[in-house]
Amino acid sequence: MSFERIQYEELKKKVTDVNTAVSLIKDGMVVASSGFTKSGDSKEVLPALAEKSKDQDLKVTLLTGASLGHDTDGKLAAAGVLKKRMPFQVDRILRSKINSGEVLFIDQHLSESAEVVHNKTLNIDVAIIEVAYIDREGNLVPTTSVGNTVTFASCAKKVIIEINEAVNPDIYGLHDIYQAEDYPFRNVIPIIRPWNKIGSKTIRIDPEKIAAIVFTNKRDSPADIAAADEKTTAIASHILRFFEEEVQKGHLTPRLLPLQAGIGKVANAVLTGFKDSDFYDLTMFSEVLQDSTFDLIDAGKLSFASASSITVSDACYDRVFENLQRYREKIVLRPQNISNTPGLIRRLGVIAMNTAIEFDIYGNVNSTHITGSQIMNGIGGSGDFARNSYLSIFVAPSASKNNTISHVLPMVSHVDHTEHDVDILVTDQGLADLRGLAPRERAQEIIDNCVHPEYKEQLQSYFDRACQRGGHTPHLLEEAFSWHVNFKENKTMKVNAEICENY
Ligand code: COA
Repeated sequence: MSFERIQYEELKKKVTDVNTAVSLIKDGMVVASSGFTKSGDSKEVLPALAEKSKDQDLKVTLLTGASLGHDTDGKLAAAGVLKKRMPFQVDRILRSKINSGEVLFIDQHLSESAEVVHNKTLNIDVAIIEVAYIDREGNLVPTTSVGNTVTFASCAKKVIIEINEAVNPDIYGLHDIYQAEDYPFRNVIPIIRPWNKIGSKTIRIDPEKIAAIVFTNKRDSPADIAAADEKTTAIASHILRFFEEEVQKGHLTPRLLPLQAGIGKVANAVLTGFKDSDFYDLTMFSEVLQDSTFDLIDAGKLSFASASSITVSDACYDRVFENLQRYREKIVLRPQNISNTPGLIRRLGVIAMNTAIEFDIYGNVNSTHITGSQIMNGIGGSGDFARNSYLSIFVAPSASKNNTISHVLPMVSHVDHTEHDVDILVTDQGLADLRGLAPRERAQEIIDNCVHPEYKEQLQSYFDRACQRGGHTPHLLEEAFSWHVNFKENKTMKVNAEICENY
């Protein structure tokens, strides 16, 4: 434990053991924690809270930036300590508790969760914040994410600090901390290029609020990087060809526009594809910096990347933190209500690429639910970007699970992104450009380009019969969800001709 990481003398006396810190959390409280896509999360207090609540009746509402690492969400859910959770999660155990109704979950746009706290819809009793160190003025130097920490630090009644000695203190300077004014006095956020820095390097906090300080020496959970496969490679190549064509048409330059890429294997495949392309001087205005971001910087293709967290593999973590000087001028970490602000995404003309669970013939996208009811992860930042970007691209495999599931359907079973917010849909089969198309034109473009061959006839038949019935957005309501129903009953979305005729 290095007291050098507490440069504000008065606070040294707040150092305590984790159990004393956890005892500040009482039944019924609203607790907030730093942590965004597994980075910069609480590695001592939240796991200890899970342990404590195994033998005590303790329930809390928990807010974070986004997902937590080290299976902490799973541990908390299994211990039964979560009454309500927001705004995002990716944990298998927590997901099943949400779907069984044991944990209430608010699936929220990531740009909006700070607003809920700022506007006092939710009052935070205790916030837990991971820092690299506390400076001489008592300000906090964040670690690998900023997320909602600025808002939590300013609005919580009490704060517990976790000083993470595994984080290189040279991380100082990587953050751009900006807090928007209260309404009705909110000003223009003065970012006009991804690299503009508009705030301070540290998070200001009233030192009086710091009730406890604990130390940790644990790294962030590493990102899981799934290797590219045939489908993701095909999707990436369709997107890259589309960008090349947009450049040839004069719609974009080889610098494109600032890129946003959701987390996962398709995003990685697309970003990796840029390495051997003719695009150059690229920028990112995104949520998460992944391995592929640093690969592109090293390849000389990416000039600047702005996000709210660094979520990388262990090998990439070492590369970044052992060579911080190389990256320092090329990356910035911002609060998530800045990285995901609709106004900035619109102003910068972001090209957003996110993954869908399924989409329908008119371009509505489901990012969150399996067969209408079961939550997968949450909307995350996909809605912040999709609604406001210059180009909103969604990708999905055309079919999966031995082709028993089609990801292109008559009607999505849950809508996260409406047909009005989606420009381009891509599967391993091809790309549908929906810009400037009316619903009936969109449906044919999607059927022609995105559907798996084993489902093409079935979807064409649905659309043709719906058109015979008429309407601006033709549907056969009694049949619209038959593919999902069939999957539930018969483990396949393939509906044979006989069933079709019976409708
Ligand atoms: N019925 C049953 N299962 C279905 C289904 C259906 N109708 N549709 C999809 N599935 C299954 C898939 O087959 C897959 O199952 P498997 O894991 O057993 O193979 C699973 O649902 C989802 O696929 P997964 O491999 O986990 O997808 P992914 O890692 O590519 O993630 C999302 C896709 C949509 C879940 C993920 O991107 C996400 O959570 N997005 C929302 C948040 C977001 O976009 N964040 C980024 C913003 S910056």
